[in-house]
Amino acid sequence: MVLQKMDLHPPIIAKQISLKPLTDADIPIFDKWLDKDYIKKWLGEKEDWLHEISERNGTYHFLKHFMVYCDDRAIGYGLYADCFFLKDLEEEPHEGSSLKDLYGDVAEKNHTYEIGYLIGEEEYLNKGIGKTIIRMLEEKIIAIGGKQIASDPAEENTISIKALLSNGFEKKRDGDYRKTIA
Ligand SMILES: CC(C)(COP(=O)(O)OP(=O)(O)OC[C@H]1O[C@@H](n2cnc3c(N)ncnc32)[C@H](O)[C@@H]1OP(=O)(O)O)[C@@H](O)C(=O)NCCC(=O)NCCS
Repeated sequence: MVLQKMDLHPPIIAKQISLKPLTDADIPIFDKWLDKDYIKKWLGEKEDWLHEISERNGTYHFLKHFMVYCDDRAIGYGLYADCFFLKDLEEEPHEGSSLKDLYGDVAEKNHTYEIGYLIGEEEYLNKGIGKTIIRMLEEKIIAIGGKQIASDPAEENTISIKALLSNGFEKKRDGDYRKTIA
């Protein structure tokens, strides 16, 4: 488990942010977060997320789900997924596009990983935690030997895009941000 000290502002209180693998016990809170308007707007169909989580040890083994904790409180969620497998899913990351369009260039396993993230508890928004989650997901991808990270925010999701750019991601094209890590 990676622990990271950070300063939250205001008030200035040192908190520990950590990522722990998602378990069945976390599903009800994740389900509740997916109903919130500021999350639903960007994450799309709740049923798809819950289905992928329920099949995380089978069909969707290449999706790795984490709960984000601030000290002992679950406040958010993070994910990384090997794009080599992701590109074959029949999902529309953006209207009119496919995962094949996005990640068709990924020719090897364990090379490019897509990340996803959210903060489910509103009082933890806009305190730098989104950027911390991205950094901690990157550390996990480096640890397993990944070479590139990708994220596919809607262009209107300016907060998510700022969080990516602050972490060194570069825009490849609309809705496709990448960072080379090796
Ligand atoms: C995206 C999300 C995780 C960002 O988390 P966060 O902790 O609130 O964001 P941070 O505090 O780390 O800030 C990230 C950047 O956005 C800016 N920002 C944060 N909240 C903002 C706001 N309300 N208005 C304008 N800018 C804002 C910060 O200043 C920072 O930019 P900078 O590095 O250029 O200064 C969070 O907004 C969220 O959960 N959104 C809903 C789900 C979602 O969109 N997930 C991503 C799908 S691609």
